[in-house]
Amino acid sequence: MNEGLVSITYIGATSLFILSLGGLSDPETARRGNFYGIFGMTIAILATVFGPQVTNYVPVIISMVIGAAIGIYAATRVKMTEMPELVALMHSLVGLAAVLVGFASFMDPPANLLGAEKTIHLLEIFLGILIGAVTFSGSLVAFGKLSGKISGKPLLLPGRHFINLAGLIVVIFLAQWFLPSEGSAPLFLMTLISLAFGVHMVMAIGGADMPVVVSMLNSYSGWAAAATGFMLSNDLLIVVGALVGSSGAILSSIMCRAMNRNFLSVIAGGFGTEGGTVATGGAAPAGDVKPVTPSEAADLLRSAKSVIIIPGYGMAVAQAQHTVFEITKLLRERNVNVRFAIHPVAGRMPGHMNVLLAEARVPYDIVLEMDEINKDFPETDVVIVIGANDIVNPDAQDDPNSPIAGMPVLEAWKAKTSIVMKRSMASGYAGVDNPLFYKENNRMLFGDAKKMIDEVFAILKS
Ligand code: TAP
Repeated sequence: MNEGLVSITYIGATSLFILSLGGLSDPETARRGNFYGIFGMTIAILATVFGPQVTNYVPVIISMVIGAAIGIYAATRVKMTEMPELVALMHSLVGLAAVLVGFASFMDPPANLLGAEKTIHLLEIFLGILIGAVTFSGSLVAFGKLSGKISGKPLLLPGRHFINLAGLIVVIFLAQWFLPSEGSAPLFLMTLISLAFGVHMVMAIGGADMPVVVSMLNSYSGWAAAATGFMLSNDLLIVVGALVGSSGAILSSIMCRAMNRNFLSVIAGGFGTEGGTVATGGAAPAGDVKPVTPSEAADLLRSAKSVIIIPGYGMAVAQAQHTVFEITKLLRERNVNVRFAIHPVAGRMPGHMNVLLAEARVPYDIVLEMDEINKDFPETDVVIVIGANDIVNPDAQDDPNSPIAGMPVLEAWKAKTSIVMKRSMASGYAGVDNPLFYKENNRMLFGDAKKMIDEVFAILKS
């Protein structure tokens, strides 16, 4: 394949990636978006492999076979709820690739680079390794925190902002040393500082803010890929890196808004909780709860005219979505207005609930976003909260001292009756108690969500 054909194929691949991002922004078009992405990536890989830059196919094919085998193994083994960990691990690989390409470019620079061109190339190497190293170590720590291998508690070193600032100043000094001298010492020192910075940055972030961090690292991995593209003079990598970098930044900002976090204070770290198992703030348990049986829950549903279902992480764990849809169909056949309310950070990854509901074939028009449905709770007869906790916690609005204060939440407590399905009184991801459970109009249906939903469905049907 000659240079011209490769460029045309790259333009085609870029267009497909843009169409893919557009498609992925809506559940109804997401499947098509995925297809565009797969098609774009396939032709991009083929154009690169058969392009003029590749002269020896053997190492390329061996690497592709090993990479594909690891990818297929990981993708088939990972559970949906473990997806954020896998994503964090993949970001770390993008960072590592940028570091390795940077060192390879440094050791084997393109011939005939002189003057400004040479300085620009060295700067590309320096920045590529810097972003790559931060992404690599930060993503590994994020993976450790998400998978529980590292404590979710923020590590707050004394003078941590000062440490970060000092690191930045030293890195600027190292750049001034590296550019004229082309020495390997400043490059290695900068790499070590960047690795340490990545670890320090993510260690300082509490468990509750990890979703934003993963999406921010997604953005970094895009910029690392773009930097790699500059080093390799590969236009497609630059464009795709910029697409990933900017869409990751937009997603981080959307998530910050959904969790009422200031983006800069998340990055600066220090916010968060003990890691999601104990109540660390907010109201103390406030009285008794009213447990109900599946049969009582079914009775409440039988007499309801309007129902809102709020799915959360527990529905994903229990894989209850299919029976939830069976109940939805049954109630709709009986002229009950049933809708779903989706919180932007319900579950453990953006769009987690939408994916599960789409898998169960729930029609998109009854799946509503938080902003669309929050006003409807006061007119709703029954709200069923399935394995959700933090996203329906009234303390986010009522208690300024709560760790989740200010996070927008689904106002389930405003319905005539709410039924919360979960196995115990344990807290959710943010590790805070939930006053919704103790409200006068709330009922607790204790048990595994799938088991409880199956029982309620069987009773409703009979
Ligand atoms: P959580 O607040 O984590 O609550 C989930 C609840 O599900 C738990 O209280 C748990 O209670 C229950 N549960 C677990 N397994 C269950 C099962 N088999 N059957 C029934 N219930 C079960 O979830 P949420 O309300 O969806 O909120 C999401 C939280 O995760 C937020 O704090 C968010 O910031 C955070 N987060 C979100 C993301 C993204 S991007 N979506 C990523 C990482 C973290 P029991 O143990 O008593 O059953």
